[in-house]
Amino acid sequence: MEQYAIKGGTPLVGEVEIGGAKNAALPILAAAVMTDETVHLDNIPDVRDINVLLGAMEAIGVIVRRESRHQVTINAANIHNLIVEDDNMRKIRASYYLIGALLGKYRKAEVTLPGGCDIGCRGIDQHIKGFRALGAEVVLEHGMIRTHSDRLVGNHIYMDLVSVGATINVMMAASMAEGKTIIENAAKEPHVVDVANFLNSMGANIKGAGTDVIRIKGVSKFHGTDYTIVPDQIEAGTFMFGAAITHGDVTVKNVIPKHLESISAKLIEIGCEVMEEDDSVRVVSSKPLRRTNVKTLPYPGFPTDMQPQITVALGLAEGTSIVTESIYENRFKYVDELTRMGANIKVESSTAIIDGVSKYTGADISAPDLRAGAALVLAMLSAEGFSTIDEIKYIQRGYEDFHLKLKKLGADIELVESEKDVSKFKLRAI
Ligand code: EPU
Repeated sequence: MEQYAIKGGTPLVGEVEIGGAKNAALPILAAAVMTDETVHLDNIPDVRDINVLLGAMEAIGVIVRRESRHQVTINAANIHNLIVEDDNMRKIRASYYLIGALLGKYRKAEVTLPGGCDIGCRGIDQHIKGFRALGAEVVLEHGMIRTHSDRLVGNHIYMDLVSVGATINVMMAASMAEGKTIIENAAKEPHVVDVANFLNSMGANIKGAGTDVIRIKGVSKFHGTDYTIVPDQIEAGTFMFGAAITHGDVTVKNVIPKHLESISAKLIEIGCEVMEEDDSVRVVSSKPLRRTNVKTLPYPGFPTDMQPQITVALGLAEGTSIVTESIYENRFKYVDELTRMGANIKVESSTAIIDGVSKYTGADISAPDLRAGAALVLAMLSAEGFSTIDEIKYIQRGYEDFHLKLKKLGADIELVESEKDVSKFKLRAI
């Protein structure tokens, strides 16, 4: 089984190119089926979740051409099936974006429901509420979500909670409904804005994305477009925290610094220097890390997808820090693994109380989910001695070439496949 072998203790130093945002690329690929004309997409990350979605799109008749590693051409003129039943789709949350896209274009969609998740219960009631408000019938049965409608008609929809997925899904369907839709209490994440920009580039009429209120005038037809996905805020944030945790000096390139403000602000609070340029951010960590408190919130608050990374950093900060998770109920599972590396953290429901320690020590552990997996790798890079982490398929869902990018920053990390490889790595690294 593939795992990473790591020898800790080397600060991350250098520059790293950030790829396109997975969580923007997923809904944009799904939305690309809403036109019969060809769509050219650039800056698509080459990560597992994207490849699973592309496979499921091909299975219903979408022509997908990988022009190069990050460029994909989509043509959905010959979709022959509105039932998306790919087994792998249950494993990715973003499978549900095909519902909004197909419902908008064909007034019908049946998609495998996303399965359980490692970070907590993830409802889809707000997606369903939105589709129903547009006039669709929605049923959940046999592990599928089935929707259809003779007419989709715009409506005034108030989301009961801020949901990235529901905002995007309902925005997609509404952009091809008759008349006007207003989505209140909308999510404001950069990827929501990116999807709206993409839909507009295909001929949609969406205003207000990035604010609480999105206004949509439905149109009957979309056309082809060329579009480049925004840089990945969370990949960038992960490397920025990598600099903090290993006391390094890392410049993340090809980013939008505005999207990173809540992350930069916390890094400064804990004692790092952060220098912003037009499309890069440099983080230098030369002093001991300081304690702080943080609560995850919808954008522009501190992202839940950065919660494990900041917890790993605060585990090494002087004093007691408190991290509160307000988006997911079960996103501290990785703390047990971090404790095995010497962390002193107590979790009480949605709060982690962290007493900083002076160092982590290497251990053999498993990645519990995507972001926690990446954060544990950062802990290992700072730790004394050797570590291994398996179940890295989780990390590969959302980080392209994670170990190669870390290696380029000076990390002593290898992708290994057997215990023999681990022993070889240890011999070489002693
Ligand atoms: N929720 C409901 N009902 C709904 C929708 C959401 O109760 O109908 C709840 C969820 O259970 C969760 C909260 O609302 O507790 C937020 O969910 P949201 O819909 O905003 O999240 P998502 O769309 O399922 C996306 C990202 C996540 C990221 C969250 C929050 C994708 C594919 N996933 O999920 O990314 O954590 O937004 O920013 O875009 C990741 O990349 O590692 C990841 C988990």
